[in-house]
Amino acid sequence: MTGALTGRCALITGGASGIGLAVARAFRAEGASLVLLDLDPAAASVAEELGETLAVKGSVTRKADIVAAFDAAEVRFGPVDICLANAGVSQNAPTLSVSEEEWERVISINLTGVFLTAQEAGRRMIAQGGGSLLLMASMYGIVAAPERIGYCASKAGVAMMAKALSCEWAREGVRVNALAPGYVRTPFLDDLAQRGRLDLDRLKARTPMGRLIETEEVARMAVFLASEQASAVTGQVMAVDGGWTAYGYL
Ligand SMILES: NC(=O)c1ccc[n+]([C@@H]2O[C@H](COP(=O)([O-])OP(=O)(O)OC[C@H]3O[C@@H](n4cnc5c(N)ncnc54)[C@H](O)[C@@H]3O)[C@@H](O)[C@H]2O)c1
Repeated sequence: MTGALTGRCALITGGASGIGLAVARAFRAEGASLVLLDLDPAAASVAEELGETLAVKGSVTRKADIVAAFDAAEVRFGPVDICLANAGVSQNAPTLSVSEEEWERVISINLTGVFLTAQEAGRRMIAQGGGSLLLMASMYGIVAAPERIGYCASKAGVAMMAKALSCEWAREGVRVNALAPGYVRTPFLDDLAQRGRLDLDRLKARTPMGRLIETEEVARMAVFLASEQASAVTGQVMAVDGGWTAYGYL
């Protein structure tokens, strides 16, 4: 049986957990081979479970680690033609208490890490004649919330990066789109809820669909954008948010 991504090679950053893991499963189910670049050694057991998957331990904040992951992908599976720059961290505290170090941490992973990954993916995809690049933004790159200054600023930057790169690389055959999930049920969200930084019932009530988003729902959008089904789609920031960013009433 052939899937929508049969014969393709995808590199996912932050693929050991949460949304990245769900996308990894969905890409494998559609026939892609995978490389997971993650700080978490759990990526190795994910790779074993999924098959046709290589885990590379490293950080998106270090260009050398990103280059090593692309090189390892090429040696094992051939050129990377799909890349999801997904690794990211939360930042949730009143702005007046955010230290310069905390700001730098969030920006270096969520914004610079996406830039470094996108730059390396673009360099190789342009040389290969094309590819599909997906950047993980958030609905908080579209609309704002208090006490998330580094998160909102970094995700708005990622959303704009997708638009800017799409214009720059469209004629080179590289499509660039961003995903903008709402509140997705992941360890990232559980951690914030456990620390009392989120009230899940209120979040559900604020969402027009009245529920959280499932990781698989984001993964299905990633498969669509990565596949030939989306051959004319570039420069878009795709909200998968149950209606959150559309809603502007009480
Ligand atoms: N969960 C949500 O509600 C939600 C909503 C919108 C956007 N997002 C975004 O989706 C992405 C994934 O979030 P998640 O909820 O799956 O989180 P998660 O914490 O479950 O997974 C994040 C993964 O990224 C890895 N990682 C973190 N820093 C890294 C680094 N420097 N280098 C390489 N890997 C690194 C972690 O080890 C982990 O495997 C993030 O960019 C996040 O901002 C999440």
